[in-house]
Amino acid sequence: MSSRLTDSVPDGYSVSAELAEARSPAPPRLARATAENDAGCLGLRDFPRLVAVRRDSARRARLLTSPDLTYLFWESTLRCNLRCLHCGSSCEARSPVKELDTSQVLAILDTIAEDFDASRIFVSITGGEPLLRRDLFEVVAHMTRLGMQSCIVTNGTLLGRGEAARLSEAGMRTASVSIDGLSEAHEAIRGKGTYRPALAALGHALEAGFHAAEAITCVRPANLDSLAEIEETVRSAGATQWRLITIDRMGRLAGSTDEGMWLGPAQVRKLLDFVEERRRTLCKSGDSFDVRFSCGGFLGVRRELSVRPGDGQCFAGLCVASILCDGKVSACPSLPRSWAQGSALEQRFSRIWSEQFRPHREVAWRRSGACESCSYFSLCLGGGLHERLAQPEDFCWLDRQG
Ligand SMILES: C[S@@+](CC[C@H](N)C(=O)[O-])C[C@H]1O[C@@H](n2cnc3c(N)ncnc32)[C@H](O)[C@@H]1O
Ligand code: SF4
Ligand code: SF4
Repeated sequence: MSSRLTDSVPDGYSVSAELAEARSPAPPRLARATAENDAGCLGLRDFPRLVAVRRDSARRARLLTSPDLTYLFWESTLRCNLRCLHCGSSCEARSPVKELDTSQVLAILDTIAEDFDASRIFVSITGGEPLLRRDLFEVVAHMTRLGMQSCIVTNGTLLGRGEAARLSEAGMRTASVSIDGLSEAHEAIRGKGTYRPALAALGHALEAGFHAAEAITCVRPANLDSLAEIEETVRSAGATQWRLITIDRMGRLAGSTDEGMWLGPAQVRKLLDFVEERRRTLCKSGDSFDVRFSCGGFLGVRRELSVRPGDGQCFAGLCVASILCDGKVSACPSLPRSWAQGSALEQRFSRIWSEQFRPHREVAWRRSGACESCSYFSLCLGGGLHERLAQPEDFCWLDRQG
């Protein structure tokens, strides 16, 4: 089912909290932004940052009217060898849908290469666990032949020396491996015996000739106090960069109130302080190791460009699209399935991209609730899409910082 714009709220959007808020709109953001730690509170010394953030946001605003596909997710499968407690895709041993076969994947990629400049497209292969697909190496080689660059997002348990070498031969140069803490915290949500192979996978990627081996950490209360040690550990294992993300209430966690997965305002500030300090120190010392906070909603003028390098807000449907495992076309695999815009098995991918992404490129419906009167709307455009849809009561990063 494709999403369509109704009066103001697209299909698939969980409206209850939003409508409740819209009935009693919050006071304007600047009026509330008086507390010292309020991420929205600005002074004169913030002016240069405001100018830089405005410039950064302008690119995103331009893409609303002139979308430009440069980042493609391929959700290769929804099958997985693990059962992580936080899994946003609710992955199990079997897929709940009929997944694309090899020839279907290759044919969709061919149409994309015909209709777009493939050399500008970076494909992130995610899942489920991509290494469960036997044709992974063949598909990666095809992407390379078409001129696309590719990377794998993996739990690492199946990325041995042999697999890394085959991916490298197929032309892949970047691997992202999920490392959710030190051993105990990682295995508490990913399962026993998963930590060592995941750390080893970072080294296997480098040995095989990958240029970048990224560690990705979902930060939660159980690993927040070990960030410095996690950095040391992933670096010793071979990571060239480290991305810190927070957990969304989707998939297995949809509607969950499990506080063990969720950071409160003081913890969010601690996480952002850590990333900010590390980026500053690494930059000063000329260290090429990259630490950054993940993409998502606007973090405030002071934070936005200090915890990530720019272009960090949500680009779903603007330069980012996804081929889901059954051929449906969405903007980002983290959006609800109801936000898929059609199937690449039935229509040409480029047609779906150019004609059916209206909900992602319309901002009018996002001007509701707290966003309606927020002074930062032109910089933020109403938050990160997956966060807004997954947790409509909790998506604003200014509020999440307290
Ligand atoms: C869905 S997984 C697929 C790739 C691979 N199986 C893995 O675990 O890395 C992609 C990334 O999303 C992260 N992730 C899973 N559930 C999440 C959630 N509820 N919120 C935010 N990130 C999540 C994982 O930790 C992983 O880094
Ligand atoms: S987070 Fe990744 S490894 Fe864990 S169950 Fe989901 S898809 Fe599998
Ligand atoms: S999500 Fe963005 S636009 Fe909405 S209230 Fe927060 S900062 Fe303002």
